[in-house]
Amino acid sequence: MKTIFSGIQPSGTITLGNYIGALKQFVELQEEYNCYFCIVDQHAITVPQDPLVLRKNIRSLAALYLAVGLNPEKATLFIQSEVPAHAQAAWMMQCISYIGELERMTQFKDKSAGKEAVSAALLTYPPLMVADILLYSADLVPVGEDQKQHLELTRDLAERFNKKYNDIFTIPEVRIPKVGARIMSLQDPTKKMSKSDPNQKAFISLLDDAKKIEKKIKSAVTDSDGIVRYDVENKPGVSNLLSIYSIFSGKTIAEIESTYEGKGYGDFKGDLAKVVIEALSPIQQKYHDLMESSELDDILDKGAEKANQTASKMLKKMENAMGLGRKRRR
Ligand code: TYM
Repeated sequence: MKTIFSGIQPSGTITLGNYIGALKQFVELQEEYNCYFCIVDQHAITVPQDPLVLRKNIRSLAALYLAVGLNPEKATLFIQSEVPAHAQAAWMMQCISYIGELERMTQFKDKSAGKEAVSAALLTYPPLMVADILLYSADLVPVGEDQKQHLELTRDLAERFNKKYNDIFTIPEVRIPKVGARIMSLQDPTKKMSKSDPNQKAFISLLDDAKKIEKKIKSAVTDSDGIVRYDVENKPGVSNLLSIYSIFSGKTIAEIESTYEGKGYGDFKGDLAKVVIEALSPIQQKYHDLMESSELDDILDKGAEKANQTASKMLKKMENAMGLGRKRRR
């Protein structure tokens, strides 16, 4: 059975973009693959975090993993910092990375632009992500389009290590959804929807209540021609809303376009809000139930145990390949 690895940062509200680009794929994939889904808290601290808020966000993300439909009997769910091999393997991956290639990462450029104090870890963020993936010999990594460059680096570093030391790593493939690979901001549809956007109206959180969702969709930036048509270049706002509509309703974009022929954006946005609210309300209900139960800790304990077993085996192989420590006696 092929293996899947992916992760999400517990760095704030999980958005519709995270759901469509990542979580929704995870739920589909757990049926067919050996899956590891991680809460990457060590990645989150590459930018300043309030410790109490971080703890809360970790738990909240774990509950969301389950609430969207991940099944701990099928997929391994765990917290990155509870599996020490990640940070250890990341150090080794840093040692074979070049500063130049890390500086070229667009996520690093975006997150460091205009900032005076940038942590060294923001630069070495990708080797930790590489370690995450390679420790589990993942064949496939489901992510949104913004992570594509990191996946290319993962393949490069895996090949570099295999050639230089020992052929131990599987070279992973990226898996990006066909529709919704890049959900855009509701306020500036040329920018991706991001949980760190200071403008709350730019994103929908998976936990927003019905009123908020309706308000945000109604105030989403569109254009002035009043025609519901998919055209990313000329109508990025409407096209983004059409993608969201299609994903949540299961209808094709062409079907939705024909439903709203001759109607304005008002009807279209009103219906879209209903579709999104209907899809999110059972997830929210389940989320609130889970946050109050102790089930979460048992699941995360078991997940960490299984992840530790797999990861520590690969870590030993890496240390042996690089000549670290002593040769182990049997
Ligand atoms: P993060 O936490 O920023 O995002 C989690 C996942 O959501 C996807 N995503 C989107 N997809 C579509 N439209 C959007 N607007 C949108 N915004 C976010 C992301 O592509 C991602 O799949 N570096 C990763 C976390 C990570 C990871 C890994 C992922 C750490 N280690 C190993 C895969 C494998 C990140 O920051 O994702």
